[in-house]
Amino acid sequence: MGGTIGVIGSINTDLVTRIEAMPALGETRPARSFHMGFGGKGANQAVAAAKLGASVSMVGRVGDDMFGRSMRDNLVAQGVDVAHVRTLRGVESGVAPIFVDDDGGNAILVVAGANGHVDPAAVSEASGRLRRCALLLMQLEIPLETVYHTVDWANEAGVDVCLNPAPAVARLDLDRLRGVAYLVPNQTELAQLSGLAADTPDQAAIAARSLLDRGIRRVIVTLGADGALLVDADGVDAIAPVRVRATDTTGAGDAFIGAFAAHLAEGFGLRAALHRAVAYAADSVTRAGAQEAGATRAEFETFLQQHGLA
Ligand code: RIB
Ligand code: NA
Repeated sequence: MGGTIGVIGSINTDLVTRIEAMPALGETRPARSFHMGFGGKGANQAVAAAKLGASVSMVGRVGDDMFGRSMRDNLVAQGVDVAHVRTLRGVESGVAPIFVDDDGGNAILVVAGANGHVDPAAVSEASGRLRRCALLLMQLEIPLETVYHTVDWANEAGVDVCLNPAPAVARLDLDRLRGVAYLVPNQTELAQLSGLAADTPDQAAIAARSLLDRGIRRVIVTLGADGALLVDADGVDAIAPVRVRATDTTGAGDAFIGAFAAHLAEGFGLRAALHRAVAYAADSVTRAGAQEAGATRAEFETFLQQHGLA
């Protein structure tokens, strides 16, 4: 496979506060520090793939506020094609207040704003470009109707879809995801989707297999510090973790998916692309932030060498 990656997804500004502990409602607490960064699951995946050298086209919406302008400029600076990233008048940009504790764990609120306007028409408008893509990436920070519409459209057009069902939503209709080439949940999302426990890798494999029976072609389960699982018609493959010391896991799943897509588009085999995606995500959690934590291609090759993975 070679070619462009299309991303239909969210673009947020992350408002990251480092905290010792979360305040309860009605309580005020001092926090350690504040940092503003570029985020949104769609944009994070697009930027990770672009940093690795992939050609990426994004379909998205931003508001006509200062966040919207700087987010669009950022995508351009990262080399992402923004012909279908529109600025909407009188609409606020998506923002994500994020709280990170001393162990690198996070709690995230997402205000959809303009991302809620990524409707099926936005995808139809971009269909000329999307038809020529090797792979389409989606997440669940845009309306579900748009996700279903795009899966139908891609099935007809013969374009592979990689869906990251994040954040977990209760009402996702699996029957409308038939034909998805790669479904990439974490364990929480997998449990929610399958209605089965997914706490251990063995449980996750069983839960993932149940999704194949529902018409998903391959399930890739991200296991955090334990690597990933590939579950497809050939069976179950464990993708070993790369051990690092985590400082901020925000956007780790996005780094994984962006890297996976970039390597597939570059012609790596499925398993090789997954091993490299696990390594790319591991490297990203050693740095703060979502997009800014992702390595460039040259930095990533150095990381691989340092860990004996090149
Ligand atoms: O996956 C991490 C992302 O989720 C953050 O960048 C935040 O914007 C939310 O969308
Ligand atoms: Na990070």
